[in-house]
Amino acid sequence: MTTAVTGGAGFIGSHCVRALLARGERVFVIDDLNNYYAPEIKKENLTPFLGNPNFTFVQADIRDRAAVGEFFAAAKPARLLHLAARAGVRPSIEDPALYYDVNVTGTSVVLEAARRAGVKSAVLASSSSVYGERSDNQPFRESDELGASSSPYGASKRLMEIIAAEWRERTGIPATCLRFFTVYGPAQRPDMAIHKFVRVMEKGEALTAYGNGESRRDYTYIADTVRGILAALDNPRDFRVYNLGSGREKSVTLKDLIALIEKTLGVRARIDWQPFQPGDVSATLADISLARAELGYDPTTTLEEGLEEFVKWYRETRLDLPREIQS
Ligand SMILES: NC(=O)c1ccc[n+]([C@@H]2O[C@H](COP(=O)([O-])OP(=O)(O)OC[C@H]3O[C@@H](n4cnc5c(N)ncnc54)[C@H](O)[C@@H]3O)[C@@H](O)[C@H]2O)c1
Repeated sequence: MTTAVTGGAGFIGSHCVRALLARGERVFVIDDLNNYYAPEIKKENLTPFLGNPNFTFVQADIRDRAAVGEFFAAAKPARLLHLAARAGVRPSIEDPALYYDVNVTGTSVVLEAARRAGVKSAVLASSSSVYGERSDNQPFRESDELGASSSPYGASKRLMEIIAAEWRERTGIPATCLRFFTVYGPAQRPDMAIHKFVRVMEKGEALTAYGNGESRRDYTYIADTVRGILAALDNPRDFRVYNLGSGREKSVTLKDLIALIEKTLGVRARIDWQPFQPGDVSATLADISLARAELGYDPTTTLEEGLEEFVKWYRETRLDLPREIQS
């Protein structure tokens, strides 16, 4: 079984590659190692796989049709796992065209090349951001009508889902879009809250937090997300959209998150509170009953356990990196 993974050098991608290789599968990764965050971190994510005969890495941009075509022609994958994207809500407001270019046009390039290479099914990374500002209607269900997106990033992921649905209609190849909810754990992107907070608190610096501390997120541990992704790869069904959240009943406030990080690190945070950021939504929470029923998705990791794992990883691997690579 061969799987092509776009964005396989990233946070979620590298965990998926590890899990697929551990099952004895063949994995082809395409990733441009761009500098949204330090490419050194992405290279480090790939290092453990480099000697594995079942692993192939190609550095290329998913918008480069020729390179993507060659990649799929060489890989001839049975399955596509499309994770490559410009991630991050706030930076998408600075450069919407880049986000649409990579997340929308890039997706269409990838799906076409995958179809031509004879792929049998596809799983694509969507996001809780497609729901926009929905604090009045928790938890989010896949069947919810979607209003205006709160950011170009959210809109780009919604457009990606529309493209995937059209691709499935036209080609008959099953496609599954997974809406991830604030995924965290070892190798988490350095621009995300938990990673940022741990980094500054470990250094004894003040952390910048936005809003009044009451914003809420459905933090989901990476190992649970990866199990959901593998289950989606193993169970293609026409066209599907699934929420992959934590399964908790109430999402976690920013204040409670910071308090838990303080407890895990044994350090008191100095907090510089700043106004709510444009693009950020006030709350997210997934209804995961569809993924539970159809994929057997069953997240088990508590935030306490997940933070312990993150901090352990951070202390073992990050503290000695040069400062410019840490952030
Ligand atoms: N981490 C989360 O909480 C979260 C939540 C919702 C959705 N997602 C989605 O999941 C996917 C993975 O997210 P992540 O947190 O691992 O991010 P990440 O930035 O660590 O991984 C994305 C990878 O894609 C690569 N990439 C980006 N643009 C590319 C291009 N033009 N060509 C080739 N490769 C390119 C990057 O170099 C990176 O290695 C993304 O699609 C993201 O939008 C993530």
